[in-house]
Amino acid sequence: MAVVKVHQHRYDAVIVGAGGAGLRAAIETAGKCRTAVLTKLYPTRSHTGAAQGGMCAALANVEDDSWEWHLFDTIKGGDYLVDQPAAEIMCREAVDAVIELEHFGLPFNRTPEGRIDQRRFGGHTRNHGEAPVRRACYSSDRTGHMILQTLYQQCVARDVTFFNEFQVLDVAFAEGRLAAVVAYELATGDLHVFNTKAAMFATGGFGKMFKVSSNAHTLTGDGPGLLYRRGIPMQDMEFFQFHPTGIYKLGILLSEAARGEGGILRNAGGERFMERYAPTVKDLAPRDMVSRAIQTEVLEGRGIGEAADAVYLDLTHLPPEQIDEKLPDITEFVRTYLGIEPKTAPIPIQPTAHYAMGGIPTNVSGEVVVDAAGTVFPGLYAAGECACVSVHGANRLGTNSLLDIVVFGKRGGAAMAAFSAAADLPPLPPGAADEVVQRIEAMKSGAGNEKVGAVRADLQAAMTGKAFVFRSEELLAGALEAVHELQARYEHVTIDDKGPTFNYDLTEALELGYLLDLAEASVVSARARTESRGAHFRTDHPTRDDEHWMRHTLAARQEDATVELSYKPVVTGAYLPMERKY
Ligand code: FUM
Repeated sequence: MAVVKVHQHRYDAVIVGAGGAGLRAAIETAGKCRTAVLTKLYPTRSHTGAAQGGMCAALANVEDDSWEWHLFDTIKGGDYLVDQPAAEIMCREAVDAVIELEHFGLPFNRTPEGRIDQRRFGGHTRNHGEAPVRRACYSSDRTGHMILQTLYQQCVARDVTFFNEFQVLDVAFAEGRLAAVVAYELATGDLHVFNTKAAMFATGGFGKMFKVSSNAHTLTGDGPGLLYRRGIPMQDMEFFQFHPTGIYKLGILLSEAARGEGGILRNAGGERFMERYAPTVKDLAPRDMVSRAIQTEVLEGRGIGEAADAVYLDLTHLPPEQIDEKLPDITEFVRTYLGIEPKTAPIPIQPTAHYAMGGIPTNVSGEVVVDAAGTVFPGLYAAGECACVSVHGANRLGTNSLLDIVVFGKRGGAAMAAFSAAADLPPLPPGAADEVVQRIEAMKSGAGNEKVGAVRADLQAAMTGKAFVFRSEELLAGALEAVHELQARYEHVTIDDKGPTFNYDLTEALELGYLLDLAEASVVSARARTESRGAHFRTDHPTRDDEHWMRHTLAARQEDATVELSYKPVVTGAYLPMERKY
């Protein structure tokens, strides 16, 4: 067995991940502390680039709007599991965040008068639910792509140091604080230990635990997964968002902007069925409600497709020039992947696993908190989808994600820069890379007969079959049993590529370990929550139970690899829980 080379570096701060949250944080630390950005991808390939429809802010450029209405919608959309002071910060700071991106050079679509244009999105309303409001600022249907490019250019202008294709696999703690980050260099197979005062995780979500998902292959929960193994609890893991409109069977996202521009969902009979489920906002209800409506149509026999397990997204009534100007990318995806012309034929769609509301618990400064009392783990930060602030509660509204990454990436970056300026470099724990070396050697030398692809496919099938839009004790118990069996099989995984260079066989095997652990935390959390709230819908407990469940779940991995749950109260505010009608 070749000896793994281990290199050492010293930085004031490390940012793990170069999507929107990581890049926005790096802009904040630039010039203030020596920062390294480690990313397993080339930065502009990050999954932020897949976000399509927009970033919301109550600019009121095209219709009356206010940050209070935005806040109300975020809390109601999140089914009252939202921490209201955190959401208030996000909605208030949204306006400046958009203007800042514009000044950074982001090419937003414009109104005829030259102002930033805005469009409708699910759950965003005027005056506390009266009617849909145009709140999403957008750049065609490639808003995330534009944010990513713009922030990357700003990082380049500030001379940010990137370590591209460095995959972070572990952290080391010393004296009760973060002390180092351990990364695997894809090009060489070498390991790099970054001794640092602070590290921010901005590694995105973990939707690849599901078969039908809008997530890139890279969204494997590495950041939350490795911190979970090191004892950091994961918050609200039972809340995973299923976006209503993924391309049938493939899950590729067809932006909610399609419905914001006037697209309509229809069942096999051609009926606009959302009129029955959400009479006021119809197709622009929040995603959890629309996904459940689609699944109900399917279960009651009104689906389309080979297995009658999909419905149609109909754009055929929209002017062709509106489709070309506002929805060029997604309509091209439909032509490419389905061979359908969306201007003349409806598009088969189905709900797709899209976004993790849960993740690494943080406060509004991006500091990781480890218990119900909000105790900060010194030097550890998180932002973006891998973090749980919690501003999205039980169900995120569309376009609040691009907002979240910019607002909390900036706040976390600023807090980390201030922390690093005041802190000494912690001692580097001896053998910081040892555990990773052992894991890699075990994967390469193992004699087991399990293959990564087979175990991952079975995990994805189990999670999509048993922990998707509709859940129950029976389904979740089956999901947990499946995950436990897969964890046992994972112990026998071996890889074919034993080499050091661009060994994706190895990195996919390591990623699968994180996905399995996070799937276990998600299912255990979901089984315990005996109510329905937001994206977590239990057919055996179909109503929201505010008396017992206005609380966040914390799932902590124990020494013996079991999961222990504890809870912390939701931070409430002016908006009291109401029935959620749209
Ligand atoms: O539908 C979309 O364009 C997705 C946006 C989001 O998840 O915020």
